[in-house]
Amino acid sequence: MMLDSARRLLAPSARSDVPPFMVMDVMAAAARIEAAGGRVVHMEVGQPAFGAPTPALEAVRAALGTGPLGYTESLGIPSLRARIARHYSDAYRIPVSPERVIVTTGSSGGFILAFLSMFEPGDRVAIANPGYPPYRHILKALGCEPILIETDAATRFAVTGDNLRAAHRKAPLAGVLVASPANPTGTMMSRQALADVIEVAGQEGISVISDEIYHGLDYAMPAETALRLSDDAVVINSFSKYFCMTGWRIGWMVVPPALVRAIDRLQGNLAISVPTLSQIAAEAAFDGRAELEAIKHGYEDNRKILIEGLPKAGLTKFLPVDGAFYLYADVSEFSNDSSAFARWLLAEAHVAATPGVDFDPLNGHHFIRFCYAGSAADMNEAVKRIGAWLRRR
Ligand SMILES: Cc1ncc(COP(=O)(O)O)c(C=O)c1O
Repeated sequence: MMLDSARRLLAPSARSDVPPFMVMDVMAAAARIEAAGGRVVHMEVGQPAFGAPTPALEAVRAALGTGPLGYTESLGIPSLRARIARHYSDAYRIPVSPERVIVTTGSSGGFILAFLSMFEPGDRVAIANPGYPPYRHILKALGCEPILIETDAATRFAVTGDNLRAAHRKAPLAGVLVASPANPTGTMMSRQALADVIEVAGQEGISVISDEIYHGLDYAMPAETALRLSDDAVVINSFSKYFCMTGWRIGWMVVPPALVRAIDRLQGNLAISVPTLSQIAAEAAFDGRAELEAIKHGYEDNRKILIEGLPKAGLTKFLPVDGAFYLYADVSEFSNDSSAFARWLLAEAHVAATPGVDFDPLNGHHFIRFCYAGSAADMNEAVKRIGAWLRRR
């Protein structure tokens, strides 16, 4: 009796039982090789190899010598919200009112606020499979049900209006989350594809969340914002990727006016506010465009190296490399177990990549994700090593 109650007190909740990110295992194995003197080409973690742009760092240095850096308003520093709103007229030529902009702790913080403010426990939310794992894990932890929609090459691995409607007819959906460019596939939705999903969602009463974290890193076609297509969509974005500020943990959302007060209350209770220094850095980061565009051009060069080099090395099947900094390769001709494939690739060729099972519980055992956010020299080295390794096998 005593034992049972003690066990219950110590046991983690069922809702916290979400899978870990398997890329961490790859990182740990890579670190062991490096500790033993090996040189690993890192293509496993989805983050820029560069830091925040110079104006962001200068703004932070200046701020450290001034005020107390206390809490800010829960929705964010007003001048940052206004600067983000201006970004929409600069980059997309659409007006966005600063009142609709909410500063978050990365897009990760944005998902929690979006899901809490839009959905009730038990609500079903559609997401593309393959997809970014925390979508389904956060939904589950919050008591919602992620509904994986299978995607394929015919739809550039995105949810379509038709399969959204089909899923909704089977069992009603409260929401759908789309991402373009997407992780892990690196594929994008055309403007028309995004418009179709938004139209069906509107007809069926399904709320739309658009994860636009990889905007700015679009090569095959211009990335379209859901804000141009709908006043009701919730857009989530971040300073992590294009702005090279992963560790600063800062992002933003643009939400319909009806959600602003609810999110204000949630953020005030959950976090009080987003770290002040990061907000100051983020506002200044918009002045670092020249540096950021140069980094983007580097990704474009890397993309070309891989698109041309990997087929010659022996990896001939991969998804369209549209945007973000990911290439998603089908390795099924070599292995039915992408985790084992990634382990061998790391152990024998010292190239670290992420197995698709992290992103796709159904078909991920056939895929490997390569992140090409490193240097061109690293990309050339990776192609060389992969080619030599596959020839040896
Ligand atoms: C598609 C996608 N969304 C969201 C995130 C979370 O990023 P952050 O919380 O740093 O903004 C990531 C990180 O890799 C991602 O790939």
